Amino acid sequence: MKLLQSLLIFSVLASSTLTSQVPLNEKSDPSESGDFQIYWSRFSEHHSIRIKQQQNDTLCDAHSLQYTGWLDVGSKHIFFWYFESQNSPSEDPLLLWLTGGPGGSGMIGLMQELGPCLINEHGNGTIYNKYGWSKNANIIFVDQPAGVGFSYVEKGIPLPGTSFTAAEDMHHFLQIFVHDIFPDLLERDFHITGESYAGHYVPALGAQIVTQNFFYPKRPQINLKSIFVGNGYVSPLDTAFGYWETLCTTNPGVDSPIFNSTRCDIMAANLPRCMELSRICYQHPDPAICQAAETVCWKGVIEHYDGESGPGGRNRFDITYPCETRDELCYAEIPRIGEYLNLPWVWDALQVPKAVKSYSVVSEEVALAFTLTSDLGISTQPQVLLLLENGIDVLFYQGNLDLACNTAGNLQWASSMPWKGQPAFVAQPKHIWKDGDKEIGWFKEVKTKMGSNDKETTFAISTVDGAGHLVPFDKPREALALVTRWLEKRSFAYAGQMI
Ligand SMILES: *[C@@H]1O[C@H](CO)[C@@H](O)[C@H](O)[C@H]1NC(C)=O
Ligand SMILES: *[C@@H]1O[C@H](CO)[C@@H](O)[C@H](O)[C@H]1NC(C)=O
Ligand SMILES: *[C@@H]1O[C@H](CO)[C@@H](O)[C@H](O)[C@H]1NC(C)=O
Repeated sequence: MKLLQSLLIFSVLASSTLTSQVPLNEKSDPSESGDFQIYWSRFSEHHSIRIKQQQNDTLCDAHSLQYTGWLDVGSKHIFFWYFESQNSPSEDPLLLWLTGGPGGSGMIGLMQELGPCLINEHGNGTIYNKYGWSKNANIIFVDQPAGVGFSYVEKGIPLPGTSFTAAEDMHHFLQIFVHDIFPDLLERDFHITGESYAGHYVPALGAQIVTQNFFYPKRPQINLKSIFVGNGYVSPLDTAFGYWETLCTTNPGVDSPIFNSTRCDIMAANLPRCMELSRICYQHPDPAICQAAETVCWKGVIEHYDGESGPGGRNRFDITYPCETRDELCYAEIPRIGEYLNLPWVWDALQVPKAVKSYSVVSEEVALAFTLTSDLGISTQPQVLLLLENGIDVLFYQGNLDLACNTAGNLQWASSMPWKGQPAFVAQPKHIWKDGDKEIGWFKEVKTKMGSNDKETTFAISTVDGAGHLVPFDKPREALALVTRWLEKRSFAYAGQMI
């Protein structure tokens, strides 16, 4: 169980008959009943989406139109909440947000971090978030993979256990969403974002989109432009390695190292074996091998901190703060989101199906399903590489005080990634980036032409000082500035700054 906690990071059917019953490309009329409008995929007989518009801002004080519903993939049902941009919905880009885990609900991102509305202190309503990312973007929050949050699977159906299974479902979701429900979004710039374990989900989904666009040019294409992930869990090996730097130096932005030299020596001595076994898992991703690597890294390195984290103890998501809640995640907002999303009137507004017994912010079942595969042990660096090779821009941003998905580890896999931009990335020093006059953190970014693409592809890492694991929660203003910078300029350099 300790191990599990440490890893918990957070068609064709539209045939003539149906087409006449279920008009495609037609939004539900809000003045009708509260019932869902159903859209079928034209490419897969098993896929459809149920969607309804929320009538007002009572449920979520969003200041823009909002829609909720479920993607039905055969026996799997995936909940989503879609917000139009508060500025210019017909021009602004489309974002998809994925919370980590595995097993974390997308509602954490929505109601604790970057959604247009945030959970209130009583857990019985929401307040408007003036730093919400829907300011200048259309954004979809989902509970994925199936089994998380309001999403569910029918009896006897196995829960998804890998990021790649999850990616297949999300790709179908996006196809119906932009092709059939909101065709206006089909050609719009699309970005996938998320945090923590989404360092696995987002590159896997990006790679799925790029390959499906390539192999099925006649099916709805997803206009993927970039991915950007906050404190992503990409490479377990490098994350474990980064524990030492994060705890034994002042690099995270702390005045003195968290651990004393006795502990640091023990961790350093145990690191080589952890690295060696993790590398074997990367080469031969058999669950037994990867679990052995995880155990060795846990006992030798990670346990020294994580074994003392949790209620009343240390906090893995911000090394400068104790864990002040009664649960492992150490955020008071998380239980409040759980309370709110279980209120009967909230269920009425969402029209939650009977198959959902209760809403939970983290699905232990999905987390468990992932531990039975090698997904937790492998690196998604190959998927990031595939995206860059196909001209998709990539950003990893970091709260520097996080340990679980630490900056040192993410900088290390980013530097070891073999691609055309590698030498320039490695050679480049860290530069300060600012919002106005205010220094926010550092960045490294490389722009280079990839393959037959004429445009330059960007790979960047940027950081936010004083923020932990959940950057938009810790530093909402800076996080919005960071995202706006990425979406508008793909650059953290300011005027006159040379890279
Ligand atoms: C908001 O919409 C719901 C229906 O979803 C309705 O029951 C409620 O009365 C509305 N509230 C306001 C303030 O209009
Ligand atoms: C939420 O709870 C607080 C404190 O119990 C109460 O004062 C407030 O009226 C409640 N709000 C709603 C919308 O129920
Ligand atoms: C180092 O830290 C550990 C754990 O906090 C503690 O048990 C140990 O006594 C410390 N050693 C020294 C020399 O301070």
